[in-house]
Amino acid sequence: MDGAGHCAACHSPRNGLGGAVVSEALYGGLVGTWFAPNITNDRHLGLGDSSVEQIVDYLKTGSDGVAVASGPMAEAIENSTPHLTAADLRAIAVYLKSLPGSGLPAPEALAASEPRMQRGGQGYEVHCSACHGTAGEGVSHMITGIAGNKAILAGNTDTLTSVVLGGARAVHTHTYVTGAGMPAFDWKLSDAEIADILTFMRNSWGNSATAVTPDEVAKMRKQLELPEQMRASVR
Ligand code: HEC
Ligand code: HEC
Repeated sequence: MDGAGHCAACHSPRNGLGGAVVSEALYGGLVGTWFAPNITNDRHLGLGDSSVEQIVDYLKTGSDGVAVASGPMAEAIENSTPHLTAADLRAIAVYLKSLPGSGLPAPEALAASEPRMQRGGQGYEVHCSACHGTAGEGVSHMITGIAGNKAILAGNTDTLTSVVLGGARAVHTHTYVTGAGMPAFDWKLSDAEIADILTFMRNSWGNSATAVTPDEVAKMRKQLELPEQMRASVR
């Protein structure tokens, strides 16, 4: 088994020629409209707060209790979990925890009193809190928690904008057989509304990350409208 080599196909950044940037291995990379987050031991963006046991749990069951895998990671887990032994999974987790990451500090959280945070908080309560929890706690092993979930904090917001616009489904494994569904909001919410809600989620309950702009949402909305065959050529 080549262990984390397979993971780098998605989780490492690519240079202009499509090759992996070796000095930034596993710092995060793009897979279509999904961002595969930093899985080094980086404290802010990576697995710095996760224990080896939590990482093993995520790889085995699709959830560490807070994050729930969806998109290409759900597929990676559904396809490869049966082939990995407990020792393999542990070896991968220990390896990831040994990678230092960039060590860059987290940006300061936006103040809850900012107008976009207030608007975002109201939108979150109405449209999202029933599933993701009034305090961003999610539903254990079924619906991703928002508080302390690194996939929500990434510098690249493609996953966030594409999932809110187009919906998603959670992983299903032998441990958790029914994957939950995330509805699409493209028909319901404007670019500005989605940007505010995501900005609120990225800066509440201990989270801190840069604001999401309406332009980022508009760009993704355009990309999702393209027929499947043309999407790849946009990047
Ligand atoms: C096909 C692409 C792909 C492959 C291969 C892949 N991943 Fe992922 N991974 C992703 C995506 C996309 C996410 C974000 C999932 C989400 O947002 O729900 C993710 C999320 C994760 C997370 C959760 C990160 C967090 O902070 O919540 C971990 C841990 C992880 N992957 C580890 C691995 C490991 C270890 C491997 C190799 C054994 C691997 N991945 C292989 C695409 C991939
Ligand atoms: C009916 C329940 C439901 C509602 C309502 C809902 N979600 Fe979700 N959400 C899910 C499920 C299920 C997933 C996919 C599996 C997962 O990652 O938990 C998900 C995934 C996500 C993700 C991707 C997380 C990741 O793993 O990368 C984001 C971002 C998100 N939701 C944001 C929102 C926002 C913003 C709203 C409100 C506008 C919202 N959700 C409303 C159930 C819901």
